[in-house]
Parts: sequence; C-alpha cells; structure tokens
Amino acid sequence: MRILALSLLVRCILAVVPCLAPSLAAAKPPPPPFSSCVNLSNALEAPIEGHWGYTIRAEDIKRIAEAGFDAIRVPIRWSAHTEASPPHLIDPALFKRVDEVVAQGLSAGLKVIINVHHFEAFSSEPSRHAPQLAAMWEQISKHYTSAPDDVIFELINEPNDQATAQFMNRINQLLVTVIRETNPKRWIIFGGAQWGSLGGLLESLPPKARRVIASFHYYDPFSFTHQGATFVEPMQPAGKPWGTNAEHRSIANDMKRAAAYGETHGVPVLLGEFGVHITTKLEDRAHWLGHVRAGAEENGIGWCHWGWAAEFRMFDAENDVWIAPIRDALIRPNLEQN
Ligand code: BGC
Repeated sequence: MRILALSLLVRCILAVVPCLAPSLAAAKPPPPPFSSCVNLSNALEAPIEGHWGYTIRAEDIKRIAEAGFDAIRVPIRWSAHTEASPPHLIDPALFKRVDEVVAQGLSAGLKVIINVHHFEAFSSEPSRHAPQLAAMWEQISKHYTSAPDDVIFELINEPNDQATAQFMNRINQLLVTVIRETNPKRWIIFGGAQWGSLGGLLESLPPKARRVIASFHYYDPFSFTHQGATFVEPMQPAGKPWGTNAEHRSIANDMKRAAAYGETHGVPVLLGEFGVHITTKLEDRAHWLGHVRAGAEENGIGWCHWGWAAEFRMFDAENDVWIAPIRDALIRPNLEQN
C-alpha cells in the first residue's frame, strides 16, 4: 500500500499536467451528512492534550448532543505523535485516546469528524512532508476501517504557505486514493489552500471520488473575529464592532459563492470553522454568529462552530455553564423550527 501511495504521490507531484480528472458531473449536491457541529478546539490539537487548557470530557460531548447539535469535529495533531522518518508510525497511545473520544461521540448519537490539524511543517515544505501525511492517513484509515459511517475523515486543516491550490489538488486526490483502499464509502472532507478559506476552496478541484465534502473556514472580517487574539501578529485591536448593512450583505454573498461551488461540482459544502474571539463584545459575537449560521443554512451548507471551551468558546468549562447567547445564536433557531 505504501508503495502504491508513494509512487502515486511522485507521479502526481511531478506531473506537468495535474493527475486530476475533471470533477464528477455537475449535479445538485447531496445534503451534507450533518448540519450543526461543534469543534472540540484546543484539546487534541495541542502538542499534548490539556496543555492548551482543555481536555475533552465525555460529559461535554453529551451536553453538545443534548443541546441539539448533530456532530463534533475533533482537531488532532497527529504529527506530534508520529515518527518523523519512515515508516512514520503513529504512537498507539494517541489512537487509544482518539478511540475513546470517537466512542463517546458515537454513543451520544453524534457524527464524529477526525482531521489532521496543525501539521505546520507540511505547509512550509509540502513535497518533503507529503509522504508523512500519506503514511499517517494510511494508518488512520486502517485503524478506522470498521468504524461506523458516522466517523468522518478530514484530510488536513488549513494548508497555507507553500501548499498552493495546485499542490493541494494533487495531495487531496492522493490522500483520498490512500483512504479508499480501506474505507471505500466513508465520507471524506477536503479543503483548499490559503488557510482553508473560501478563496482557497474556490480555486480547488474536488478529488475525483464519491462521498466527498468541500469545506471552507470563515472568519471575515478577520479584524473583527480575531480581535484580541494573542496568537495573531500583529494583534488586532479590541473594540471592533460588526453589523453594517454592507457587512451583512458580504456574508450572504460569500455563502452563495460557497454553495455555487457545491452546485458546480456536485458536492455538499461544509463551513468547517467559524467563530469569534472572546475579547469581542458578547452581543456582537452572537450577532455575527447568528448571521453566518443563518447564511450557511439558507444555502444548504452544514456548519461547525469554532469552538467549544477555549478562546472562541461557547461553554465555560471551569464553571460548567453554557455561554447562553452564543449557544442560542447557533442552535435555538433550529430547535424552534422543529
Ligand atoms: C486553528 C486554531 C485557531 C482557529 C481560529 C484554527 O484552525 O487551528 O489554532 O484558534 O483556527 O483562528
């Protein structure tokens, strides 16, 4: 299998003409397999779970399900637990922990998305690290080959820098080929370059395969959603409001562009991350989130809020209470409709 993966990889990367067939015939896309999801941010995406202030708890997963969400996305930094040189073996202890979280999600009746998060070396030197990415997916796919269909794979979070749109087209196709060896029917989420943004997605082609979902992340305007975030350089000043008519229109327009991509390529579309930093006025956060959520839903786009209990939180894990305006901006309108 590894020989097949690596030889395909070399062919794809070196090909003058991309080894991508055109996407499957344009058709009305099937609906996404879930609609309202929560990102379990800052836990398994840290180099060691807990080091970024949050460890996933079974009771939180239950709370998410009971509130009416139908999926969780679990960002995982596999690369921190994988040998840097071939055969790139993943530490069994990480699999054990991910198995626990997956089981907790499934037993709460949720779909569970597992991804490859924060593989930063890949974005800096994608050709060099692509074999490791393929080797990780080969192992993850084998490990979950018998898992229920509710476990969903997502290829890689927010490729950027040297991982260009053209490069990602080839890598996405390669990874899907690797996964399909052991998981012929599992849903697979792919995204584009430029940090997984809408612009990046619009420049990408879906891998040629059935049951793939196109994902994009949405944090516009960045100076609003990331105000006060210390990991952003330069730091965006706090106090930025949101909500002019032009800003409302811009969200509506962007969601239509995302949906049009799905129509063109016959794939469901997912808004895989959207959220606002906690420095922002609570009312403004809820306002923006409600608009983005409604815009996605009006266009048949599933969504996944970033995030659960950290800097973009909807739940205060220290005191075990929901941040009610955030939860309500996301889920209450859906519950009221039912
Ligand atoms: C990154 C997080 C970040 C979030 C919002 C995610 O994809 O992995 O570290 O907090 O986007 O910027």
